[in-house]
Amino acid sequence: MTKKKAIILIIAAAALVGIGVAVYNFVLNGSKNVGINAAITNEDSKNAKVDTKDQKVLVVYFSETGNTQALAKTISDQVGGDFRRIETVKAYPSGQELYDYTKNERDNDERPELKNLGVNPEDYDVIFVGYPMWWYTLPMPMYTFFDTYDFSGKTIVPFNTHHGSGDGGTYETIKGFEPAATVLEGLPIEGNDMDKDQTGVVVNWLEQIGFSQK
Ligand SMILES: Cc1cc2nc3c(=O)[nH]c(=O)nc-3n(C[C@H](O)[C@H](O)[C@H](O)COP(=O)(O)O)c2cc1C
Repeated sequence: MTKKKAIILIIAAAALVGIGVAVYNFVLNGSKNVGINAAITNEDSKNAKVDTKDQKVLVVYFSETGNTQALAKTISDQVGGDFRRIETVKAYPSGQELYDYTKNERDNDERPELKNLGVNPEDYDVIFVGYPMWWYTLPMPMYTFFDTYDFSGKTIVPFNTHHGSGDGGTYETIKGFEPAATVLEGLPIEGNDMDKDQTGVVVNWLEQIGFSQK
């Protein structure tokens, strides 16, 4: 084997191990999910604990296994305003099937249809948008969401849960979707940490991005 071939082989092997570790982390390594909590429902006109400077606030989230829902609720309890869950018309399968189904959906660049939110997100000044990492990007329902609404001139605040990828560059993706919006620094939280109360982390983050406690 030539030296060049050997180097290429080593690089390829290293890349495979890297991908393997990432896949292991979120597919096989049994992520702890808190589960969708039926008691966490859509709400209107919540009082804010932080100073939102009289802006109209919406917290919207997509969540399949509850982690992002729990984070969204923690954020919503601080920033007030309206609170909405993004849901697809067609329910997702569970277990291993969810991984296969959503990988196909992403590979085919699909835009799953969303249920009516009951509010128009374009009517708000500040839109907190939450989602889990799916296959190193936003879940495709979030692509539908950003295709549907034009947030020019608005403020978007992203947050997400994940199992190792952090925000995986998705906050930059959102900036690309909405070039005329202001996208503030987002909050990525490891899904395994959502069995603990994240209020302190959320309050610190909100303070940093300009929403101080009243
Ligand atoms: C289909 C699927 C794909 C995932 N892909 C990733 C990924 O690329 N990177 C990552 O860090 N976590 C990944 N995860 C883990 C989730 O992001 C994590 O468990 C998240 O907290 C789930 O949020 P939810 O409970 O709100 O649905 C994936 C989970 C699923 C079900």
